[in-house]
Amino acid sequence: MNQNRSSSKKMLRTLAGVVEAVPPIWLMRQAGRYLPEYLALRREEPDFIAFCLNPDLASEATLQPIRRFGLDASILFADILLLPHAAGQKVWFEKDHGPRLELFSDKQQLIRLDWDRAAGELSPVYETVRRLRRDLPQDCTLIGFAGSPWTVSTYMIAGGKDADRWQARTLAWSDPVLLDDLLERLGAATVKYLCAQVEAGADVIQLFESWAEGLPQPLFERVVIRPTQAIVRKLKARFPGLPVIGFPRGCGTLLMDYVQGTGVDAVSLDMSQANAAMLNLLSKDAVLQGGLDPALLATGGPLLAAEITRLLDLMAGRPYVFNLGHGISKETPPEHVEQLIRLIRETPPQP
Ligand code: CP3
Repeated sequence: MNQNRSSSKKMLRTLAGVVEAVPPIWLMRQAGRYLPEYLALRREEPDFIAFCLNPDLASEATLQPIRRFGLDASILFADILLLPHAAGQKVWFEKDHGPRLELFSDKQQLIRLDWDRAAGELSPVYETVRRLRRDLPQDCTLIGFAGSPWTVSTYMIAGGKDADRWQARTLAWSDPVLLDDLLERLGAATVKYLCAQVEAGADVIQLFESWAEGLPQPLFERVVIRPTQAIVRKLKARFPGLPVIGFPRGCGTLLMDYVQGTGVDAVSLDMSQANAAMLNLLSKDAVLQGGLDPALLATGGPLLAAEITRLLDLMAGRPYVFNLGHGISKETPPEHVEQLIRLIRETPPQP
């Protein structure tokens, strides 16, 4: 039997398949710009990459939402673009522009980055995890994470956000050898990076495949499922009991292929996937997470209460982790998060 079924951490029990009367709660991007205390901390280090690589600042940012809201899980404060940065591709963040990455006109340069050393360059992240392990409340689960190779590659190829993933998709079709090679190198570095996070104390790993949207099935199989499966296999070979959550945002009904093909223990749903038709396609004991529209959390009020009730009804009888369908937005009043947690914890358990 999975030892996590009797863990003192509600999140670990749920990931092991236990149905809790009140689900564990955490929110993607729960540390961030909607919190005044985060904005104040950010002013101490305007360079975002340097902020992520400073264990004092990164551990404090991780703890802020835990102190304020008493969530059931915390997610390491870091970014999916630290790995390309550590491999030697320059990454920076411009205000109102999102991430920018050094643009290589010769895409072979992506292969020649220092992939072997990348994970080793990120030792400040592991120090942050060690401190969190020490400082978090006993019952709070610590989630480590990385981007899945396809999603990270879309930023690397385009030098930033790639509208419709046009450039990455074009490269996938026009030069499959190069693209698959890049995904493999990224995947191998990601395994090392995640193993180091687990060794430092992460309880769970989440893989962010934020750009799983808009792929034809054969490409989805090749660039999303295959690389993710390789990562999950290697993580499980090293840490057999480690729970892994996948978040293939925007993949629609390819969710079934993703769950079966990758071997993740739990899948995080986007807004459009949290519905009865989709759930009917999944096995009754599949562990699910997420689904709430971040725009509704930003709005608050009675419609938020009604949607929480709908999600709890929809998930009744299933192992479920309450979360959003994507990251919390910076417009969200922190009081709405308090309201959300109160509503979930006070809703009478479903029969
Ligand atoms: O609280 C947490 O969830 C932990 C930290 C976390 C961050 N980024 C911090 C962050 C996590 C898990 C991520 C993941 C991440 N980063 C993803 C996958 C999840 C998703 O949202 O789809 C992606 C695609 C990235 C790349 C990235 N980093 C983007 C698109 C941005 C936003 C750029 C902007 O200016 O809006 C970032 C920056 C970033 N990462 C911020 C935070 C708190 C905001 C930076 C700031 O403080 O100025």
